[in-house]
Amino acid sequence: MELCIALDLPTKEENLVLLEKIQEHNNLWIKVGFRSYIRDGKALLDEIKAINPTFKIFLDLKLYDIPNTMADAAEEIAKLGVDMFNVHASSGKRAMQSVMERLKPLKKRPIVLAVTALTSFSNEEFADVYNQELAATASKFAKDAYESGLDGVVCSVFESQDIKKSTSNEFLTLTPGIRPFGEDAGDQQRVATIEKAKVALVDYIVVGRPIYKAEDPQSKIEDILKEL
Ligand code: C5P
Repeated sequence: MELCIALDLPTKEENLVLLEKIQEHNNLWIKVGFRSYIRDGKALLDEIKAINPTFKIFLDLKLYDIPNTMADAAEEIAKLGVDMFNVHASSGKRAMQSVMERLKPLKKRPIVLAVTALTSFSNEEFADVYNQELAATASKFAKDAYESGLDGVVCSVFESQDIKKSTSNEFLTLTPGIRPFGEDAGDQQRVATIEKAKVALVDYIVVGRPIYKAEDPQSKIEDILKEL
């Protein structure tokens, strides 16, 4: 299991201070989401790699659009040199296939994941939007992503095992909503500890607030890495 840190702080300076603090940890995944990417763009990606070239970047922009626009965006994302990005599985199989088709000619392409159900959704909220039951729909979305040639999905710890069963053990799961040692959930509904993520065969855990809001993020990361 690998650790992915969400870079969601209010300013670029604060994000960079956090990265400087943790720079000695090789091969960490750094998740750049809407806030940071919209504000700081590609320059931030270059600065992350400059702090530690072994850091791997997950660009979390959750693409959702018509197939051609998704493929165009995927091609541009690949040019940024990031190591992983994601799309919404609910954009449909044709859109996901067009993304993978567009990346095919590349010698080295990023890992592509599909978001199944946002971890902030409760079962009731999910049903209100999709008119379907959450767990079954997350599995169905994962199967669509698998059949479309993607590498894995973003899901909650609670769906990880079922998804692997209905696809393949090699099909990656990345789970946000991790509260490593039972920290405050914030706006997340389906949170779980590292212990639970291990049992659920999760490949990557995403941790944001429990690290960047910790008094000592560096030692928090050390505690997490020990536990992995
Ligand atoms: O602070 P916290 O650990 O809750 O951060 C989780 C991160 O994962 C946030 O950046 C959030 O946008 C992202 N995320 C999520 N649920 C998804 C996909 C991404 O929480 N399904």
